[in-house]
Amino acid sequence: MTLAETLRGSLVTAFEKAGIAPEELTRVAVVAASDLRHGDYQSNAAMMLAKAAKKNPRTLAEEAVANLESELAGKIVCSLAGPGFINFKLEPAFFAAHLNLILNDERLGVSKHPAPKRIVLDFSAPNVAKPMHVGHIRSTVIGESLARITEFLGHEVIRDNHIGDWGTQFGMVLWAWKSELDEEALEKEPLRELLRLYRLGSSSSKNDEDLANLCRAELVKLQQGDAENRSIWERCIELSKKGLNEIYDRLDVRFDHWLGESFYNERLAPLVDEMVASGMARESDGAICVFSNGELPPKKDPFLKNTKEGIEDYPFIIRKSDGGFNYATTDIATIDYRLQEWQAEVIWYVVDFRQEEHFARLFEVAQRRGCEAELVHVKFGTILGKDGTPLKTRAGDLPELQDVINDAVAAARKSVAEKSFLEDEQEKEELAELIGLSAIKFMELSHRRESDYMYDLEKMVALEGDTAPYLQYSYVRCRSIFRKLEEEVNLGGEDLVLEDAREVHLARMLARFGEVVPQVLEELRPNVLASYLLELARAYHSFFQSCPVLKSEGVTKASRLTLCDVTARVLKLGLGLLGIGVPEKM
Ligand code: ARG
Repeated sequence: MTLAETLRGSLVTAFEKAGIAPEELTRVAVVAASDLRHGDYQSNAAMMLAKAAKKNPRTLAEEAVANLESELAGKIVCSLAGPGFINFKLEPAFFAAHLNLILNDERLGVSKHPAPKRIVLDFSAPNVAKPMHVGHIRSTVIGESLARITEFLGHEVIRDNHIGDWGTQFGMVLWAWKSELDEEALEKEPLRELLRLYRLGSSSSKNDEDLANLCRAELVKLQQGDAENRSIWERCIELSKKGLNEIYDRLDVRFDHWLGESFYNERLAPLVDEMVASGMARESDGAICVFSNGELPPKKDPFLKNTKEGIEDYPFIIRKSDGGFNYATTDIATIDYRLQEWQAEVIWYVVDFRQEEHFARLFEVAQRRGCEAELVHVKFGTILGKDGTPLKTRAGDLPELQDVINDAVAAARKSVAEKSFLEDEQEKEELAELIGLSAIKFMELSHRRESDYMYDLEKMVALEGDTAPYLQYSYVRCRSIFRKLEEEVNLGGEDLVLEDAREVHLARMLARFGEVVPQVLEELRPNVLASYLLELARAYHSFFQSCPVLKSEGVTKASRLTLCDVTARVLKLGLGLLGIGVPEKM
């Protein structure tokens, strides 16, 4: 149980004694205080309960506090603020007792969710044949971290990589493959050759209408099942998956399924027929579309668009006028599959905010077709270069993910060479790889996902600042104390004491871990955990600077070592939930 839950339990009893009806008591909440000057925890429950109880909120709060203080005498001090806010200030002994609890808990105070759900997590999902670019960092890293946190909280997570393996890009690749393939290069460096072919097809068809038509014809042949095109396509998919897997391995990302767009091909025609037959979709200018059903207010209706000419239809096209199906059709079929085959209760789509309108209409269509699962577009913004526009290479392209990773590792290598105490070259290289990748991940996860952020290589691998290396270094520091310890010390126990204000603050931060991890899922924000870890590390450093550990004695020493031990474990587990590992030495 977290401290917030313990306090909530006592507060509920206190309100009960003050005559509040049982059904009202579920509304009582206690949260960590936003301003420590007022207390450690706070509650606005009195204001919410007063009306139904026909009492003045302040009077009700006073009654509750009187009841509470008699129950928890000597452990907490309550104060009232404003119209009825209750603030709780905990005595150090209360924190010490909780620290002892966490010390002996493998989960470090994080409880499992009482009602676990089955959640499909749709993330990463690059379009294959094209290389993964810097934008894919966001979906991949946010998705992996949400998967880890959600699983840790006891939910069942199905990770599905819905790769784009059936798009127009294959027309270009097929054309280039047939006319320009360099067999030898394909043998030696398949991905590079594939990329060359894609770029060739895409750049040449841009300014050449005839060539663009040839590419389109190749695509149609593929879609119609032409054996040669089919086998080239299969080869491309296989090669691309191999390349993707190399990157996922480095990033320590995994999937349960790779059901890409092509997996749903056979289901699309019957799906569209069914939607037409049921009246959900209809023909318009040769295409089959889903329109507004007039049930939502125009401003909230995703099938309507406000233009200069007034409100216009913004239909969801599920079959193009040339008979082809599209992204929308596949996504409807994918929902069907996930509901039927996996009994999904929740589906999260970690996808760029630019697809907002797509998902708004997709979710609406799913709902009209009776889908009861909770569908969420977990959207994110853009990674910017130092000039404030989307990050690009010197040539003006989106940087490839592999290059971004290699650059980060190179920067980490430089900083390891300058600062690390490691001597073994192999160990140094492993550390550089770990730091480089962690730096990218943490930079991603420490920002609110909807915001754009600036990509700053130097900043993110720095040992000082809001970075992964700073947290990893904090961990290493906690751990190194135990290597220097000469005697056996029993951690925790009844006589644990917290005397210095910095010890108390560190214990306060450690107690919050169990409250913070579930908060991530409230709005699917790993940055909540990332900020917490930074705050924890700062609390640790200030403790460490003013409270000697190895030079102290007796219970003080045991208590300080307990703080170090729990801090190290929380940092390791917390970073692990973000998909970030820790070194033992740096
Ligand atoms: N392949 C898509 C893209 O790169 C993302 C797919 C996301 N998932 C989905 N079910 N639509 O934009």
